[in-house]
Amino acid sequence: MSAGRFITLEGGEGAGKSTHAAFIRDWLQARGREVLLTREPGGSPLAEEIRRVVLQGWAEGVGAESEVLLMFAARAAHLRATVLPALAAGRDVVCDRFVDSSYAYQGAGKGLDERHIAALESLVLGDFRPQLTLVFDLPPEQGLARARGRGEVNRFEDESLAYMARVRECFLRRAAAGGARYQVIDAAPPLEQVRESLRLALESRL
Ligand code: TMP
Repeated sequence: MSAGRFITLEGGEGAGKSTHAAFIRDWLQARGREVLLTREPGGSPLAEEIRRVVLQGWAEGVGAESEVLLMFAARAAHLRATVLPALAAGRDVVCDRFVDSSYAYQGAGKGLDERHIAALESLVLGDFRPQLTLVFDLPPEQGLARARGRGEVNRFEDESLAYMARVRECFLRRAAAGGARYQVIDAAPPLEQVRESLRLALESRL
């Protein structure tokens, strides 16, 4: 059995990541792969519990330090309980958000020094990294409009467009500096068109 591949999806709100994640799962399954679809924060019992706490906590403005520690606590649990066993069993793992989101949201978005995030990354991941990270890129105004259209407005009440622009810029900067593991996909066009870009990316990368 060939080793599983770890594929992560990143991007701002409203970029359609969950829809694209399901498409990637189907694409891989159609090629005979066993696939695990998962997400962060979450993806294991403890990590899902942390997700519930964190997403509630944001309304209280807990601060970037608590957030990043909770994100990495969830990530450590998710990796150990879910991701690594699946990869070891030869399954591909498609994960909606991963460590790049901590750099983008707690780092660029909320101003936490990147060195702290890098230290946590080293502690929790060691040398482990995704084989492929797809960044779904969208102007913040458009992402916000799409998310509002889906009724997901609460999450954005405290988050300005400037914050979302910093998040976006961080994803793009990391993709540009991070070499071959990243691929940016323009998520602004209509869904069918984005899906076509995604399909081409998968065909050339996997
Ligand atoms: P999502 O389910 O829409 O992706 O929402 C999860 C939220 O968690 C999203 O606003 C981004 C945020 N997040 C962080 O702030 N840091 C992280 O490390 C991760 C994985 C997610």
